[in-house]
Amino acid sequence: MVLHRHVSGDEATGRLRVRPQFALPAELAEIPRLRMPARGMGPEVAYQVVHDELLLDGNARLNLATFVSTWMDNRADALLLECANKNMIDKDEYPQTAELEHRCVNILADLWHASAAEDATGCSTTGSSEACMLGGMALKWRWRKRREAAGKPADRPNLVMGSNVQVCWEKFCRYWEVEPRLVPVGPSAGGATHLTAESALNHCDENTIGVVAIMGSTYDGAYEPVLEIANALDDECSGRDWDIPIHVDGASGAFVAPFVDPDLVWDFRIPRVASINASGHKFGLVYPGVGWVVWRDATALPEELVFKVDYLGGEMPTFALNFSRPGAQVAAQYYNFLRLGFDGYHRVMSACRETAKWLAHQIYRLGPFELVSDCEGIPAFAFRMKRGVAYSVFDVSDAIRARGWLVPAYPMPPGMEDVAVLRIVVRDDLSRDLAARLIDDLRRVIEHLESRSAGHPEKPRTGFHH
Ligand SMILES: Cc1ncc(COP(=O)(O)O)c(C=O)c1O
Repeated sequence: MVLHRHVSGDEATGRLRVRPQFALPAELAEIPRLRMPARGMGPEVAYQVVHDELLLDGNARLNLATFVSTWMDNRADALLLECANKNMIDKDEYPQTAELEHRCVNILADLWHASAAEDATGCSTTGSSEACMLGGMALKWRWRKRREAAGKPADRPNLVMGSNVQVCWEKFCRYWEVEPRLVPVGPSAGGATHLTAESALNHCDENTIGVVAIMGSTYDGAYEPVLEIANALDDECSGRDWDIPIHVDGASGAFVAPFVDPDLVWDFRIPRVASINASGHKFGLVYPGVGWVVWRDATALPEELVFKVDYLGGEMPTFALNFSRPGAQVAAQYYNFLRLGFDGYHRVMSACRETAKWLAHQIYRLGPFELVSDCEGIPAFAFRMKRGVAYSVFDVSDAIRARGWLVPAYPMPPGMEDVAVLRIVVRDDLSRDLAARLIDDLRRVIEHLESRSAGHPEKPRTGFHH
């Protein structure tokens, strides 16, 4: 989370005014902004103050930057509210919530082709970041155990991943003292915007605890070639005492590929894939606060990392960074599995991909843009300005914001940092109709930016008539 500074002195004396409609004559009309008020207030007033503060937050549905779910149906809303006070860790008090988590892990392990012959194990998390931390820890512990057993030094672990990884992997490396080997994308990766088998291999050695392969790169939505990377590692490791497992970061893609790319082999069908994470709150279609991680078998999840908590008089194995956590999102995840079923998820993901393809094509037809993604991965794509266009992706991002759309602009990762792109994530709540409005708005933005860069005077404004 953002780190907030403790403010003191004059700066700390700022006050919030309560609107006169809500503050009765004898009540507080002002409250300190950065200190706890000495006395409380009625719930209606407190509600109104908080509600009004939040008016300036953006409209989540128009935020095309986020992968996180911004819509659930009202039955899910009811369930979330019913479960708001349930603590996920308290398995004794809330055994049925634990049961729903158990069912979800089973559903996901099955979806990701865990073998009946192996003992896949998994858990829920607060999101993919925590899931990636747990996946990374298991890789490190497993590597260290093997090195120590062989009487070899185990003090210089490294993790190989594309420079396009999400920041949680850099965090993992820093917090758990693992050298991040960020493989540049772009020309040195044969032009790919992500990790390739060859580029990964060039960075592996005996101290590599694992390779992270992403299903749905955050930068442009592309799937990384998990099978090719695994095959290349098979060749590289044979004849050596190396054992380099793959962790698949399927934050978005592990909820997309099973439904729309069933023939793509990226999951536990590949023996080298040790673990997979996904965000329930992205294409799992749940509001923020839930992720998942599954390990293929007991070797992939070292026993030392597992803690036991009380459960109906017995003990239940757990692996988590947090202790207390809301149980509501797990119930909502299970609700989605029941409500949509395989067929429902298939329809949602197909619709998102179709809308993404349609939108990408329309954007290309606008003229000044060229596509960076082919929309064959998760329903998200990146596009850039064509050479010679006099304004930048940053200008477009700023201008489209005036209509409420949040379309982020940023440079591509190391190896391609000279390329700046805009990215759109198509979630299930971006209908084709809404997407068409976005195209209309982009067209207006382009006209405006083009006339401005051509030095044309601004069109006279019509004024405000009513
Ligand atoms: C590939 C990838 N991994 C990990 C994460 C972190 O996920 P979360 O926001 O669920 O913690 C993201 C978030 O966008 C992501 O795209």
